[in-house]
Amino acid sequence: MWKPPQRIKYIARPGSWPDAEEARRSRLFSPLSFGALRLATRSWVPAMVPWRATQDGYVNDDVLEWYARFARGRPGALVIEATGIRDIPSGPLLRIGDDRFLPGLRHLAETVHRESHGETRLLIQLIDFLTIRRRPPREKFLRRFLKIDRALRDRLDAGHTPEEVIRERLCAMSDAQLEQVLDAREFESLQMGYRERVSDMHLEHVRKLPQVLPGLFAQAAARAREAGIDGVELHYAHAYTMASFLSAHNDRADGYGQTRDNRLRLPLEVYDSVRQRVGRDYPVGCRLLAEECIDGGSAVADACHYATAFARAGMDFVSLSRGGKFEDAMQPKPGEAAYPYTGPSGYECMPQYISDEQGPFGRNLEPAREIRTAVRAAGYETPIVTAGGVHGFRMAEAMLHDGQADIVGAARQSLADPDWFLKMRLGLGAQVRVCEYTNYCEGLDRKHKQVTCQLWDRSELDEPDVRRSADGRRRLTAPDWHPPG
Ligand SMILES: Cc1cc2nc3c(=O)[nH]c(=O)nc-3n(C[C@H](O)[C@H](O)[C@H](O)COP(=O)(O)O)c2cc1C
Ligand code: SF4
Repeated sequence: MWKPPQRIKYIARPGSWPDAEEARRSRLFSPLSFGALRLATRSWVPAMVPWRATQDGYVNDDVLEWYARFARGRPGALVIEATGIRDIPSGPLLRIGDDRFLPGLRHLAETVHRESHGETRLLIQLIDFLTIRRRPPREKFLRRFLKIDRALRDRLDAGHTPEEVIRERLCAMSDAQLEQVLDAREFESLQMGYRERVSDMHLEHVRKLPQVLPGLFAQAAARAREAGIDGVELHYAHAYTMASFLSAHNDRADGYGQTRDNRLRLPLEVYDSVRQRVGRDYPVGCRLLAEECIDGGSAVADACHYATAFARAGMDFVSLSRGGKFEDAMQPKPGEAAYPYTGPSGYECMPQYISDEQGPFGRNLEPAREIRTAVRAAGYETPIVTAGGVHGFRMAEAMLHDGQADIVGAARQSLADPDWFLKMRLGLGAQVRVCEYTNYCEGLDRKHKQVTCQLWDRSELDEPDVRRSADGRRRLTAPDWHPPG
C-alpha cells in the first residue's frame, strides 16, 4: 500500500475509558431512531469483506462465525460485507443475486440476532461492479489480447502488414515506445489489466446500466428483507459502479453524467426503485465518498450535494467513507488484478499508522462535519455515519458532540476487538485490545486471503473447535471473551 512520504509513525492512544455509569449516560450508547432505522446504540461496524464465502457466493459456517463474533460485542449496527447483486460468479464474495442465496442469508440474520441478544441491527451492503481483469503477461497481451485495428495500424504506419509481423514488432518495443503507439486504454490494459468504466458507451451492457441496475438493486433489497436482514446499505462508495456514476470523472453523455445532477440521477433512480420494492418501513441508506481523493475527482462540495439529495429522497442514513479508487492504484504484478486501496486514495480509505502530519485517525471528520451541516441546513435530520481510525470512547463521544457524526463507525478496531463496544459499556474499557493500524488485515484482503487480525490470529490456536485459515496457521475469529460475573 502507498504510504505518505513523511513516514511519521503514530501510536493509537484511546485515551481514558468510561465507567459503566458514564457509558450508560453517553451519546455513543444512546439509542437512535430515524425513519425506519432504530438502533439500540450509535455504534456501527462498517462493511468488511472477510473472504469467507463459498466459491459460489453462499454463506457457510466461516461466514456465520465471522458475523456472530462481531454480534457478541453488540454493536448498534453490523453491516454485512459488499454483497453482489448479480447472478454471476465472483469467487468467495457473498452474493444475493438469486433466491437460492436466501436460506444462507436467513441463517446469517438469525445468527446475528441470537448472538447479540436481539440488540444488533444487521444491514447488508449491496454492490455492483464492472469487469476488471488481471494484468496480463506482456507477451500474451501483445500476441493475443491486443486488437490490431485500423487506428493502431495507422499509428504504426503498418498499412497491410500481416498481423503476425505487427505483433512481432510490438513485442520488440520498449514500454516507452508502446506508450507512444498504443492508445491510452490499450496501454492501461497492458500495464494494469483491462478495466471497464461507466463511460464505455461502446459496450451495450454499460450503456444499459441505467435500465438494468434499478431492478437488480430492488430485487436484491427485497431478498434481504425476505431473509430477515434489518436493512440495506447501497454501495455508492469506492471504486465500484455506483460510485463511478457519482464521480466527477463520469462523462457519460446520455443524461447520466457530466453534471452533478446527471451524475446523481442513477443513484437516485436505484434508491427509488429499492424503496418502492421494500416499502417505507424498511431501512435503506447508502455508503458515499466524502471525497474521492484523486485528481479531478469529486470533492466535499459534491458529497454535500449528493448527501442532501439522498436525504431529500428519504434515505434512512448516509454512511461516509473516502477514497479507495482504481485511478491511482499501484501497478499489480502480472497475473494479479489492480486493487483500489493501494494508492494515495486507498490510503485515505484505510489510513495506517505510518502517516503524514494529519495522522491516520479521523481524516474524514472535517469532511463529515461539512456534509452533515449541509444536510441539516437543508432541513433534514438524516443520520450520518462516520468512520476512519476510531479506536476510543473519547474520540467517539467527541464526534457525536461536535457534529461530525450521528453514528460512529469502527471497522478495524472492531476487527481487532469485536467485544470492544460491550467492554466499554460494561466499564471494562481497560480490557480493549486496541487496533495498531498496521493494515495487516488489509494486506490479506488485497491477496484475497481470509481476513484476520495480527493481534489475535495466532493466539490460543490449540483451543478445541478453533476454526483455522486454509493453511491452518491462523485462527479465523478472535478468541472468546466472557464478561465477568
Ligand atoms: C479487510 C477490510 C475489508 C473492507 N471491506 C469493505 C467493504 O466491503 N465495503 C466497504 O464499504 N468498505 C470496506 N472496508 C472499509 C471499511 O469499512 C472502513 O471504511 C475503513 O476500514 C476505515 O475505517 P476504520 O479506520 O474504522 O477501519 C474494508 C476494510 C477492511 C480493513
Ligand atoms: S491487523 Fe488488526 S491491528 Fe492491524 S490494522 Fe488490522 S485490525 Fe488493526
